[in-house]
Amino acid sequence: MTPNSTYLKVPFEWTSANTRSLTPDPEGASWKIDETVDELLDVVSQTLDASRDPADASSVAKFGARQAAQRLLQSPREWKCSYEDDWWKILIFHGEAAGFVLPVTYDEENGSMGTIFHTGLVPRFRSLGLSRLLLRLTVTTLMSAGVLRIYCDTDASNEPMIRSFTSEGWTRLPVREVPVPVDFAPGEPDISNDPR
Ligand SMILES: CC(C)(COP(=O)(O)OP(=O)(O)OC[C@H]1O[C@@H](n2cnc3c(N)ncnc32)[C@H](O)[C@@H]1OP(=O)(O)O)[C@@H](O)C(=O)NCCC(=O)NCCS
Repeated sequence: MTPNSTYLKVPFEWTSANTRSLTPDPEGASWKIDETVDELLDVVSQTLDASRDPADASSVAKFGARQAAQRLLQSPREWKCSYEDDWWKILIFHGEAAGFVLPVTYDEENGSMGTIFHTGLVPRFRSLGLSRLLLRLTVTTLMSAGVLRIYCDTDASNEPMIRSFTSEGWTRLPVREVPVPVDFAPGEPDISNDPR
């Protein structure tokens, strides 16, 4: 894997030692599993199409939003990540699909470590504070599954996501500069999510 550039990443972790209680989701918010994948694909596609994350932007520029979303949704197992069918959820806010969260575990850690393969909100549901709900669902899903540590990072330019992790009580770790594979696209090996 030959790097052609680097990304500056801000990592955060949540461990089983974190006893902070999670705020309930606000009225109007609920979660659903997409039985057909179509709705999830739509939500992911709209999110990637308007993302400030440089990896998202790069993938959309290369493949178009819908194909970038397809690649993302199809790729966790290639990267030795696993998930149960009912972990991946669409956030419904006042009846509309507003966002998604894709929690996974690392196979090499025997399910003891997890991450967010990707998450986000469609543009019209941003700046409403809903990103915190995405993090809470991640914590409840993975901790219920027996994960001991959740490690995630986000691009240093992604101020809303950084603020959201911070507000939700995740522990901030030192910033890392990570190489970007030449053919990087979301859903491909997001080595930024690899803490080792
Ligand atoms: C990242 C994302 C989920 C954040 O959601 P959001 O709706 O934009 O942000 P929220 O309204 O939930 O706000 C979260 C925090 O960021 C702050 N914020 C919101 N918009 C901001 C902006 N444009 N600049 C700086 N801070 C901002 C909020 O005040 C809030 O801060 P607080 O927790 O200290 O009160 C959303 O922007 C998104 O889907 N982006 C595209 C996909 C993506 O980047 N996913 C994450 C990859 S790691």
